[in-house]
Amino acid sequence: MVPMEGERYHLSPEEAVAQCDANTIGVVAILGSTFDGSYEPVQEIAAALDALQRDRGLDVPVHVDAASGGFVAPFIQPRLEWDFRIERVQSINASGHKYGLVYPGVGWAIWRNQEALPKDLIFNVNYLGGNMPTFALNFSRPGSEVIAQYFMFVSLGREGYRRVIQNAQDVARQLSSGIAEIGPYRLLSQGDDLPVFAFTLAPEIRNYSVFDVSDRLRERGWLVPAYTFPANRQDLSVLRIVVRTGMSHDMAEHLLEYLGEQTEFLQSLDAPLPGQEPRLRKAFAH
Ligand SMILES: Cc1ncc(COP(=O)(O)O)c(C=O)c1O
Repeated sequence: MVPMEGERYHLSPEEAVAQCDANTIGVVAILGSTFDGSYEPVQEIAAALDALQRDRGLDVPVHVDAASGGFVAPFIQPRLEWDFRIERVQSINASGHKYGLVYPGVGWAIWRNQEALPKDLIFNVNYLGGNMPTFALNFSRPGSEVIAQYFMFVSLGREGYRRVIQNAQDVARQLSSGIAEIGPYRLLSQGDDLPVFAFTLAPEIRNYSVFDVSDRLRERGWLVPAYTFPANRQDLSVLRIVVRTGMSHDMAEHLLEYLGEQTEFLQSLDAPLPGQEPRLRKAFAH
């Protein structure tokens, strides 16, 4: 685990290399940080590991956790190299149930080639007729999610996925630029990588916190989580918006309007909200 530092909210090539030694079995780069939706620089991380191999002889492979980005980047950032175009990338995972547009229960892990998947992880059975290699934690599993993923691929096609994901990104950018205009908010990301962005409150805001904003949005059915960042930025509390299929430009306008109204009310407070002080103290502890 590489902690955040200052305004670095995800893994950098320098930090990735600094953590490696002779016992390192791999570096995981995340395509689409859970915290702010930004992509970790896979290509730069791989290049830094190439240099590490040249200088110190350590050959460290890369796994890309593309849980969200695996179904985003190929459609709307096709020129971004983060996948098997980079030699050092040996394996990738992606969640079908996020931007893959399938109901929960399906995720994918793919390996660069057969050599990248250790043979002793594969269990070969012949009693089902012919040779059946299987690689799973349990043997009998439903196939319905796989069929659903296949159905979505066939029915939408590459162009269909591109349109759905591009629309999500357009809505995310509409929201992030609208929120920047509301006043007290500071964007940490804009939705330029994943259609996901995080924002915080300006440091001078003392009478309410992002947790109050989240509560007020929830009263109207908008689920916009507020949370603190992990080590070493636990001092930073943010709100995060994840835009998925079905979130339209009209809905984004409604959300902006309601957020604007509620922010105006919170801004008008001349003291911290009653009963909120312990939490405010925690949120503003640093
Ligand atoms: C970066 C990242 N990796 C892994 C996961 C877990 O994926 P899944 O829900 O498909 O198990 C998530 C979110 O759930 C994620 O955001």
